[in-house]
Amino acid sequence: MITVAHTADVEPATLSAARALLYDVFDDMDEHDWEHSLGGVHAVAWDDDVLVGHAAVVQRRLLHGGRALRAGYIEGVGVRADHRRQGLAAAMMDALERVVRNAYDLGALGATDEAVPFYTGRGWKLWEGPASALTPDGIRRTPDEDGAIYVLPGAVPLDLAGELTCDWRGGDVW
Ligand SMILES: CC(C)(COP(=O)(O)OP(=O)(O)OC[C@H]1O[C@@H](n2cnc3c(N)ncnc32)[C@H](O)[C@@H]1OP(=O)(O)O)[C@@H](O)C(=O)NCCC(=O)NCCS
Repeated sequence: MITVAHTADVEPATLSAARALLYDVFDDMDEHDWEHSLGGVHAVAWDDDVLVGHAAVVQRRLLHGGRALRAGYIEGVGVRADHRRQGLAAAMMDALERVVRNAYDLGALGATDEAVPFYTGRGWKLWEGPASALTPDGIRRTPDEDGAIYVLPGAVPLDLAGELTCDWRGGDVW
């Protein structure tokens, strides 16, 4: 079963279980990463009453082609190892991509290598151009993220070879 709710409507115990799952799934998980998943819509996968998957979409601004696009940014996607390849991430993304399509100009995310076939299989496109962040000191390139950013285009035309700049936040900016 998949449940979908805004952070404000998710039980504290469910948020704690989701955070614990993500610490299990990602070796390099930190509190910034968890904070990046908050304030938007969560999709949670359950096996009976045990939380076995989590994904979230939050709003960010992405600068591209002289516009500040409203992006649905996907965060905290993880499925417990013993529940993978059962369609749980696909079901969670079905719910979140609906939010992206109906509420945002585009979807965006930073993908792990492992998840690339999952996202490309769902129509997400590799951002081919240079990535950067709007830092307190101005726009700075984020070369380490080149090749890891994927977008789900919406109605706004995108030049995938152009520059894409994300808004500022603590921790990993993409
Ligand atoms: C990536 C991840 C979320 C996928 O979760 P999942 O529930 O196993 O994915 P699904 O079962 O919904 O997969 C749907 C389809 O995506 C593709 N897919 C999923 N995982 C894949 C993999 N490791 N390799 C190749 N294709 C994959 C397949 O086409 C799959 O369909 P199939 O099983 O019928 O072949 C999960 O492997 C995971 O938690 N990985 C570790 C954390 C991580 O990297 N998260 C992504 C952060 S960006």
